[in-house]
Amino acid sequence: METRPNLLVINNFHPPTVTKLDRLYQTHHLWKLSGEHQQELISELAGLCTAAATGSWAFNETAYKLESLELIAAFGVGVDGIDLNLTRENQIRVTNTPNVLNDDVADIALALILATSRNIINADRYVRSKQWEKGPMHYDSGLAGKTLGIIGLGRIGQAVVERALPFKLKIAYHNRNNKKLSYEYFSTVVELAKHSDILLSILPGGQETKGIVDAEVLKSLGPKGIFINIGRGTSVNENDLINSLSQETIAAAGLDVYESEPKVPKALRELDNVVLLPHIGSATLQTRAAMGNLLLENLNAFFSKKSLISEVL
Ligand code: NAP
Ligand code: 8YV
Repeated sequence: METRPNLLVINNFHPPTVTKLDRLYQTHHLWKLSGEHQQELISELAGLCTAAATGSWAFNETAYKLESLELIAAFGVGVDGIDLNLTRENQIRVTNTPNVLNDDVADIALALILATSRNIINADRYVRSKQWEKGPMHYDSGLAGKTLGIIGLGRIGQAVVERALPFKLKIAYHNRNNKKLSYEYFSTVVELAKHSDILLSILPGGQETKGIVDAEVLKSLGPKGIFINIGRGTSVNENDLINSLSQETIAAAGLDVYESEPKVPKALRELDNVVLLPHIGSATLQTRAAMGNLLLENLNAFFSKKSLISEVL
């Protein structure tokens, strides 16, 4: 007799973890079905299935119709793919995978800071295209003594600070709440931008942060300023960013995240003063495995009626 609990798998968020789920649970893969068959599966699972697993960036509206759903275990920290108002209303608990990815995401922030401030990508092109043989490349500006302004200094932000201080960067930040840290706090993003040489956004997605970084913020950063985004693309007005980069009202940008991933506007792709990464902050073998393990631990805790390890409250 089958004793494994039922589990609804919403999407193929991380194939090695999904394979483990197939061993541990009676999995039902919603993403493998067409729309009509998805609806049928949800009806069949009514009263039988209480948990779902998903990538944190995407859910499937149809799955909210499963009335017996009690838990959504998400792979990823930013749960902007899940409607938290609806889950709270329906008493569906949500878990995510924080902390295990802090180091890797912070490394990517530093990589983007170095790549933009020292013009690393264009320097590589300079050698390959033999321009160096015609004369030296222009000078850049060093990091030591500059101010790194962080919008959204939380878990990942703290890991960025640990890396930025040995580079002799000064830290300033803006959050909704003054965390009374030893770094300068600014109550608005515009004020933080005015005081920053490099402005780094690690904001979560969702309605509340939509377009926080706009033309006014970028103007405040100024023509020597560098903007980096490793949080969510939706927190930036991408058209304003493209205008600021093409009119050189800021010097450069380094982006891991975009408004409509994986689509990156042509205008952005054609600019030389921006470094573009395909959302690889947490994309190392070790970290993705650790994220998967944390999701499994949350599911195990749920089915064993123990406290959830990392619940989104
Ligand atoms: P966290 O610990 O919750 O930190 C987020 C910080 O943002 C908090 O300190 C919060 O402080 C601040 N914040 C939230 N809403 C704000 C608002 N409206 N205005 C100003 N500040 C605000 O989260 P984390 O673990 O560091 O992750 C942050 C985000 O990074 C995730 O949500 C995800 O979207 C993104 N991420 C990206 C990658 C990648 O691969 N690029 C990987 C992982 C995560 P207050 O509450 O005081 O405002
Ligand atoms: C994603 C992320 O999970 O955790 C987050 O919020 O943005 C990333 O770690 C990753 O893009 C999954 O593909």
